[in-house]
Amino acid sequence: MPPQKPTILVTGGAGYIGSHTVLALVQAGYQVIILDNLVYGHRDLVEQVLQVKLIEGDIEDRSLLDNLFQTDNIEAVMHFSAYTYVGESVTNPDKYYRNNVLGTLTLLEAMLAASIKKFVFSSTCATYGVPQFIPLTEHHPQNPINPYGITKLMVEQILSDFDVAYGLKSVRFRYFNAAGADPRGLLGEDHNPESHLIPLVLMTALGKRESISIFGTDYPTPDGTCIRDYIHVSDLADAHILGLEYLLKDGESAVFNLGNGNAFSVREVIAAAEEVTGITIPVQECDRRPGDSPILIGTSEKAKNLLGWKPCYPDIKDIVAHAWQWHQKRHK
Ligand SMILES: NC(=O)c1ccc[n+]([C@@H]2O[C@H](COP(=O)([O-])OP(=O)(O)OC[C@H]3O[C@@H](n4cnc5c(N)ncnc54)[C@H](O)[C@@H]3O)[C@@H](O)[C@H]2O)c1
Repeated sequence: MPPQKPTILVTGGAGYIGSHTVLALVQAGYQVIILDNLVYGHRDLVEQVLQVKLIEGDIEDRSLLDNLFQTDNIEAVMHFSAYTYVGESVTNPDKYYRNNVLGTLTLLEAMLAASIKKFVFSSTCATYGVPQFIPLTEHHPQNPINPYGITKLMVEQILSDFDVAYGLKSVRFRYFNAAGADPRGLLGEDHNPESHLIPLVLMTALGKRESISIFGTDYPTPDGTCIRDYIHVSDLADAHILGLEYLLKDGESAVFNLGNGNAFSVREVIAAAEEVTGITIPVQECDRRPGDSPILIGTSEKAKNLLGWKPCYPDIKDIVAHAWQWHQKRHK
């Protein structure tokens, strides 16, 4: 029998990207424990689909963490839990600094106390701020323009310092726009409130919303709408397995962009959704939103070269079709 693979703690594993990664971990043969306070996560998906141990608790609960690290033989931590609403981070930054920074610090301190020194972190392209060049590489300056992005950059800095001081090795993934759903329809995106374009477009197709708002139609892009890099959530999950295995083989701390390299405008996403669903989707053209860059595209060559990552679903129609399959099932 092959040796049993180690146990991995996944914080935020009941959320969107975390749950898809837990599924990939289980399929790769890892033992998984989820720690999620279920503020935004979904118990039903953990119990019915993932079927792994769920600890309902908070990353800020140090005694819970100490207990967990003492009793379960955890080899590495994948850290997805965070608050993620950019607008709310501007109006209520305290909530974001507390959860995303202090919570992560508590988690890291508990890991170090238990001599667990492998960490995979969900960072974001929002740490780059306004692009100075496109496509964004990992060397692009990091000047985030909202508290959400700042909290993620602060954690990146903590991780660099903790490597130097304590030998904690981390992989920091800077995701572009996570999108799509498990291709078999087992899991998908279910944020409440929802702020991402593809689910909002599909909820409009389902008649759950009257129209989809396009914020800005006069950007310097071919069709005047913003262009974004949508990366399939299952491709993100695969990258996490590779990042974990890189650390388990004693890889040095590293930062990787995770994007599609193949970006789409808001109008192109809506057109793809109309093609996939066969439904005409009503749009409402609105003014630009402050802080939106016309174009955000990342290059993920480093993850491809160093980790051997090969995204399977770069086509926006596949991304939208998988999301559509999920939303029809989830919201029927
Ligand atoms: N969705 C994207 O496009 C995107 C892009 C870049 C980065 N990210 C990052 O990826 C990660 C996952 O994003 P997501 O879209 O899956 O979000 P999500 O809200 O679906 O998942 C986050 C999970 O963390 C849990 N959680 C939050 N605070 C917690 C705490 N203090 N203790 C325990 N659990 C807690 C929530 O209940 C939720 O299940 C986040 O860190 C986010 O910042 C996401």
